[in-house]
Amino acid sequence: ETLVSVLLLPGLLPTLILTALAPILTSHVIGSTRSAFIDKGFAGRDLLKATSDLVPESAGLPTSILYLLLLCLFVPFRYGAAAGRGAHLAGKGDDVWEAWELAKSNAPDGGWSGAMKGRRGFPHHELATYLSSLLSILSSVMLGFLDDVFDIRWRLKMPIPLLASLPMLVVYRAGRGGTSVVVPGWPAFLREILGNNIVNLGPLYYLFILLLSTFCVHSINILAGINGVEVGQALVIALSLCINDILYLDPKAGEPGSFASIELRDRHLFSLGLLLPFCGCCIGLLSWNRYPSLVFVGDTFCYFAGQVLACAGVLGHFSKTLLLFFVPQLFNFALSLPQLAHLVPCPRHRVPDVDLETMRLHPSIAVFPKEKPARPITVLVLRLFSALRFVSLEWEEAEEEGRQERQKGKKKRLASTTNLTILNALLVFRGVETRRSGSIIKQGSRLRGPAITELGLFWHVMIVQIA
Ligand code: UD1
Ligand code: MG
Repeated sequence: ETLVSVLLLPGLLPTLILTALAPILTSHVIGSTRSAFIDKGFAGRDLLKATSDLVPESAGLPTSILYLLLLCLFVPFRYGAAAGRGAHLAGKGDDVWEAWELAKSNAPDGGWSGAMKGRRGFPHHELATYLSSLLSILSSVMLGFLDDVFDIRWRLKMPIPLLASLPMLVVYRAGRGGTSVVVPGWPAFLREILGNNIVNLGPLYYLFILLLSTFCVHSINILAGINGVEVGQALVIALSLCINDILYLDPKAGEPGSFASIELRDRHLFSLGLLLPFCGCCIGLLSWNRYPSLVFVGDTFCYFAGQVLACAGVLGHFSKTLLLFFVPQLFNFALSLPQLAHLVPCPRHRVPDVDLETMRLHPSIAVFPKEKPARPITVLVLRLFSALRFVSLEWEEAEEEGRQERQKGKKKRLASTTNLTILNALLVFRGVETRRSGSIIKQGSRLRGPAITELGLFWHVMIVQIA
């Protein structure tokens, strides 16, 4: 009985039907567009395979377009009947504001749900929220595809998602989006300084939301390079968020005895409407992108996925919970910062290095050129990372600093570091050594064969994610 009443919650049934269709349709669309991408030159070599066959790139484009079309298909199912009612009332010269007030006062919690209903039952605000998500996601897809085509510079890539998220922010504010956070109880002095438990961050909170969407968009893209990891992480985060949403689907919301208000439940329903079809599309894409990859997802998918997750989190009003599910990406982002800020040289690809004879993975390295040695602050940060076993450093004797010092055996120069990504850090942590000048110093990994090695790394990330 409860299950039936949950299924009858507004919009859930159409969402479930679209979610069931999504994997089949995505897989079909990718299969039928693969050759077109190769023909147009959208293809790349798998860096961790012995073959030099080209794999079609940008499979995120058909996936994201299909997803957006599925969401467009959802609109008439969810809002069609209400729109008919609205038109009927409008024809009778119904006063908009009167109806708005009526709907507000009819809503059990008098607030968001009232505003959502607007004109005699038509959920104007909810539709505006939905459409602003579509707009943000569409602009991310566009940016991602442009990045695939033109390799856009980081100084442009960073601010574009900020601007693209502005409509979403305005809609968040209109939906009574809170700007307060609970001050943590630990360390204790925080509450002493900030006073009560809740602090209103005001405009700073909006800035946080804007930065959050930029972070989500880029963080998936830089945790990439082994088969299936881009889609895999997006799918795991989305599934975790869906479970979180389902916990709020109480059909008796708003009634005495229920923990959830209608407002809270509707927000989570909205977020499910974005996330469930997204999971469906990811499953279809993963069937092509898992090891051995028959397509690459391209930056289009990474930007698209990040924006879907950001929209669901922000407009579902659980942006801080969202960050909890991004912990591995946060770690990878923080670790990457010295390379993104060019304090440490950032090669075009930072994925682990494969030894084609043994098919084992080794951490890849970034070399400090002799004419541009590492700054003292960089050395300090890298020493810290090295102490934590995130990176492995290579030192060489300094040449120019004078023979005397070298004779004393003092002066050493930082020659290279393993690349600052979570994938390399996992290998370093396991004790796998870097291949330097083609020779393997020590084989620390017990994992053999490309499939097992990649799956092993993949699951490392996933387990952290699930935890
Ligand atoms: C990001 C990373 C880069 C990483 C690359 C690989 C940063 C700052 N950038 O760059 O370090 O090397 O992703 O995805 O962290 N590829 C594979 N196997 C895969 C997926 C991709 O070999 O499973 C290779 C293919 O050659 C493909 C290329 O990566 O053509 C795609 O790279 P792209 O997405 O354009 O790299 P970026 O996002 O710029
Ligand atoms: Mg990429």
